[in-house]
Amino acid sequence: MTAPTDATATSAWAELEHLKDDLTPDLRGWFAADPDRARRFTLDAADLHVDLSKNLVTDDVLAALIRLAEQTGVVERFAQMLAGVHINTSEDRAVLHTALRRPSGSRPPLEVDGQDVDGDVHEVLDRMRAFADRVRSGRFTGVTGKRVTHVVNIGIGGSDLGPVMVYEALRPYADAGIQARFISNIDPTDLAQTTADLDPETTLFIVASKTFTTLETLTNARLARAWLWDGLQASGAIDGSDAAKKDAVAHHFVAVSTALDKVADFGIDTENAFGFWDWVGGRYSVDSAIGLSLELTLGPDAFEELLAGFHAIDVHTASTPLARNVPMLMGLLNVWYNNFLGAQSHAVLPYAQRCTGSRPTCSKLTMESNGKSVRWDGSPVTTDTGEVFWGEPGTNGQHAFYQLIHQGTRLIPADFIGFASPAYPLQDGDRDVHGLFLANFLAQTKALAFGKTAEEVEAEGTTGALVAARTFSGNRPTTSIFAPALTPRVLGELIALYEHITFTQGAVWGIDSFDQWGVELGKRLALQIAPALEGDADAVAAQDASTRGLLEYYAAHRR
Ligand code: F6P
Repeated sequence: MTAPTDATATSAWAELEHLKDDLTPDLRGWFAADPDRARRFTLDAADLHVDLSKNLVTDDVLAALIRLAEQTGVVERFAQMLAGVHINTSEDRAVLHTALRRPSGSRPPLEVDGQDVDGDVHEVLDRMRAFADRVRSGRFTGVTGKRVTHVVNIGIGGSDLGPVMVYEALRPYADAGIQARFISNIDPTDLAQTTADLDPETTLFIVASKTFTTLETLTNARLARAWLWDGLQASGAIDGSDAAKKDAVAHHFVAVSTALDKVADFGIDTENAFGFWDWVGGRYSVDSAIGLSLELTLGPDAFEELLAGFHAIDVHTASTPLARNVPMLMGLLNVWYNNFLGAQSHAVLPYAQRCTGSRPTCSKLTMESNGKSVRWDGSPVTTDTGEVFWGEPGTNGQHAFYQLIHQGTRLIPADFIGFASPAYPLQDGDRDVHGLFLANFLAQTKALAFGKTAEEVEAEGTTGALVAARTFSGNRPTTSIFAPALTPRVLGELIALYEHITFTQGAVWGIDSFDQWGVELGKRLALQIAPALEGDADAVAAQDASTRGLLEYYAAHRR
């Protein structure tokens, strides 16, 4: 294992420290002095048109950030990832989500640790397509011969969030009369409400779990199986025999997992199981078989377009010099804001109502990847890592939290994402509503960048204490991303963009962005505490005083 370079010990870091000390952010002045700034700071990556000009950077800062990437080996590490080097050191694994979207017949073929990666990926993709064709055409039916109308994905974390986000965003592409639903939380409310109006005869469950051991998913899968059996028996569709129940599971359950032996133990026919590999991290898995719900509802062609979008950004990232490399520059800007300008969070603000799922997915991708205090060789990090990523689609967000971004005391860099063409081109009288929507996007980025001076406020007739309240400082950084439309391809490009932004930050900080040990302790403790909630006195006695107190409250108030 090569030791990570300490970013803070590089000459580029020292240079950035000086530049920060000398920096007086002045977007108004910078734009006035350089009429070419917008053009010079706008880049294209596949279908994404990215304007970086409203960021708090000068040419000198950008040049120093690029040197920081060079001195910390970001490009080399990206190449190692693509080649299957075990850059996930704490789990001794390759990190190959980029292989999930390599087109068939890519040259040279990718073989890693003796595995024909391309062959295996496309074997599963072909099986997914064949299965999707059977379900969508009605050749695969429920146990009573009825067509599938609802696909329910049972999974959590990466086995849920990516599919939820993509399904919501691409719903207009669902063309086979099949809807998707998602159950993730072990809160029984989730399963009860999601299945309440479903017909067991037309429902197909996908149990999506990389490990097939996750408490939430396995519990929900058992509950769903019981719901299916009860419903089918109640309507007289099956009798209560073991054979009938087994047949029902074969018609109504499929699985996605790396642990096919455990799938079989659950009673799911492994013919109806779709595998992936330990080199696909949960938060990087929507483009693996974990996307089966998408393939079934949106169709194989849309899924392939999604993969093509991912791949286009992979190619851009791997082959574009740093000065024009959009994901790497955006990752470097995040380092600048985090480590030099004191930002602690980053807003991602899609102007698309269909992107409601982007916040949890983006939070998981970035925060599970880069929320680390040690580097990939186990040594402590040398600077702050992992900012909080958050956001909501505009314009709703404008009426919720933008106040803080405009006039709060903290620096919150924000990415605005918009689409030139809408899914639903509605008119309000003679007004194009989508145009009005995008006017808000442009107005917000303009207000954040250029603000409103006290003189401008006074010129409008405001006086006294109100002047300060109505003044906007400006110099609040944004990146504007436009794309032609929210298509499967563009969505794939956007997800890959954020994957590689995350990669870049992790590489500069010297951390393993592909493990998630931080979620393990809580999982283990939950299993130890569960008996205490059932009244096991020894388990109660084993807890700390605070936990015991909360258990007593629970015991006293439980109905
Ligand atoms: O949240 C931690 C995690 O391990 C994620 O990385 C993963 O997506 C999720 O749990 C679910 O795990 P599995 O797919 O194995 O059920």
